[in-house]
Amino acid sequence: MKNRIIITGGCGYIGSHTVIALIEHDFEVIIIDDLSNSNEQVLERIKKITGVKPKLLNIDLKNSFLAENAFRYNKDIDAVIHFAAHKAVSESVQKPLMYYQNNLCALVNTLMAMEKYNINNFIFSSSATVYGNPKTLPIKESNETQRPFSPYGNTKKMAEEIIDDVVKANPNLRAISLRYFNPIGAHQSGMIGELPNGIPNNLMPYITQTAIGKRDKLMVFGNDYPTKDGTPIRDYIHVVDLAEAHVLALNRIFSKEKDHNLEIFNLGTGEGYSVLEVIEAFQKVTKQKLNYEITERRDGDVPKLYANVDKANDILGWRAKMGLEDMISHSWQWEEYYHLEKKN
Ligand code: UD1
Repeated sequence: MKNRIIITGGCGYIGSHTVIALIEHDFEVIIIDDLSNSNEQVLERIKKITGVKPKLLNIDLKNSFLAENAFRYNKDIDAVIHFAAHKAVSESVQKPLMYYQNNLCALVNTLMAMEKYNINNFIFSSSATVYGNPKTLPIKESNETQRPFSPYGNTKKMAEEIIDDVVKANPNLRAISLRYFNPIGAHQSGMIGELPNGIPNNLMPYITQTAIGKRDKLMVFGNDYPTKDGTPIRDYIHVVDLAEAHVLALNRIFSKEKDHNLEIFNLGTGEGYSVLEVIEAFQKVTKQKLNYEITERRDGDVPKLYANVDKANDILGWRAKMGLEDMISHSWQWEEYYHLEKKN
């Protein structure tokens, strides 16, 4: 019998790529998603890619009654991968309570339902934002965490603390927290990718939307950082590589070899690229001219963030396979596909 996995937020950007990876590795997937920042159409696309249309429970996990029912009526769940969360940094600064309520209540309700129905395997979607502005690079999992700049980032840090408390109280619970660096890229089919609501906050969707003509100009937020060309350095990671890491994390949890009840892994490539390097690579790979301008720094940006990924490599057997050019060409392929689809 196939292992049956609940994926909360499975219609979203990283969630949908992970659903594909799990189906391809012969898992059965049930998605819980309130579709607040995603679209049901993604299910048809997943079917085109994998041949399987996953079951969707359109449920808001902030509602504890609905959260519990989801687990009550879907039996024999082997593990939960929890993506469901709001993720727009600037919105979280404007609406902190909305972020704390949504991201933390959904987590707590999910963990409570899991406890009630005796589901003991949990993977959490975390972020490198928990490292704040690190003193040493590349960042290891053992680096101290700092209070993130934004309420969004703080929900990730608080969520890890909640999970840590819960595993200490329940030794049967095995949890893995995956700290993503900067996920970009899209599925190689071109049919699934990132679809930010409104104006994108993140670099890659802003670049592709500018190149396709949806935005006038990319603003490069500052070129006076202590880096090689003055623009900040990040560790960009292909979303398909990231999705693959969730499969390996599940295998790790099921193997029962885990050392601690909460294990943490960085997921990045270990390579850092500056904003100008990304722009240059984009122009080279896509042959598109990008309209951009250097402006003021953006509040909360740190100069350099890139991962040490030895732990994920040694313990999960995971390493990113795709480089920056793949990330860019797949992001661009997705933007073009989406643009054409909307026109037709
Ligand atoms: C951001 C969030 C982080 C979150 C991650 C999710 C902040 C402070 N951090 O990371 O918490 O987990 O997204 O992917 O927002 N840039 C521009 N112009 C733009 C957009 C971005 O120059 O229009 C620059 C930024 O200054 C930064 C780099 O591009 O140096 C990457 O930015 P972004 O994609 O927003 O990611 P992070 O800020 O690293």
